[in-house]
Amino acid sequence: MAEINVENLKVVYRGVILALQGVSMRAGAGEAVALLGPNGAGKSTLVRAISGLLPQYDGRVLDGRITLGGEDITHLPALKVAGLGLTAILEGRPIFRYLTVTENLRAAGHKLTPQRQKEITDEIFARFPRLYERRFEQGGYLSGGEQQMLLLGMALLTEPRILVVDEPSLGLSPKLTEEVMRVLDELRRDKGLTLVLVEQNARAAFSIVERVYVMEQGRVVFEGTAQEAQADADVMEFYLGGAVAGGFSEAKRYRRRKRWV
Ligand SMILES: Nc1ncnc2c1ncn2[C@@H]1O[C@H](COP(=O)(O)OP(=O)(O)OP(=O)(O)O)[C@@H](O)[C@H]1O
Ligand SMILES: [Mg+2]
Repeated sequence: MAEINVENLKVVYRGVILALQGVSMRAGAGEAVALLGPNGAGKSTLVRAISGLLPQYDGRVLDGRITLGGEDITHLPALKVAGLGLTAILEGRPIFRYLTVTENLRAAGHKLTPQRQKEITDEIFARFPRLYERRFEQGGYLSGGEQQMLLLGMALLTEPRILVVDEPSLGLSPKLTEEVMRVLDELRRDKGLTLVLVEQNARAAFSIVERVYVMEQGRVVFEGTAQEAQADADVMEFYLGGAVAGGFSEAKRYRRRKRWV
């Protein structure tokens, strides 16, 4: 049984904007899959739907079904979904800017016993020595890469079984992007997590996922293994902007900005 199963999902914003037009995807337990595709494809909408966050964006599921380990979560509120072991790291690095690294981590782990909280925090600092060095710094003063590491640390403090990460590479240098991908891959392997990775940087995603879904205009236009996607000239050219050859897709990443804040 798939850990996450999305069937024919239709999502609408403000009652009129159809953002997902019948999307199906799945991720098996311990599997890593990527959602790829250009701006406005519906990647973040799918993330919001899976994590129960659509109402916060004035969106709702019109049709279709989402299950988590077989349980129907289609209309479940975010807190309940989180309670089932799914943690989503949303676009735009939502940390507490005026709290220090340590305070951010404490806030994220507030449900744990002090003992468990300490164990996981020690693990986080061991994995991310840079965060340890900056533990008394305010979140807002961290670099993009450090903020992404902090978010991953905060996610670990919720002890997730499923991790959904929306565009962790946005605005990061190629080197830091590689570092973030490496950490995600390690976390998945060490903890047996199911990973759903949303990326515009297809090349980065290919390095750590087994299967990919390419979305465009609210639909899945390609589904296959990372190898199949990379071997498909049309997919690479039309949807991923020649991502593996580099160049264009790299440039695109720096041009784009968020529109919904
Ligand atoms: N809160 C919202 N209200 C209305 N329309 C929205 C909202 N959020 C997204 N949309 C629309 O839904 C569609 C899908 O947007 P979404 O943010 O899911 O795309 P995306 O694939 O994540 O794009 P990006 O790569 O730019 O993050 C777009 O047409 C977008 O304009
Ligand atoms: Mg998005």
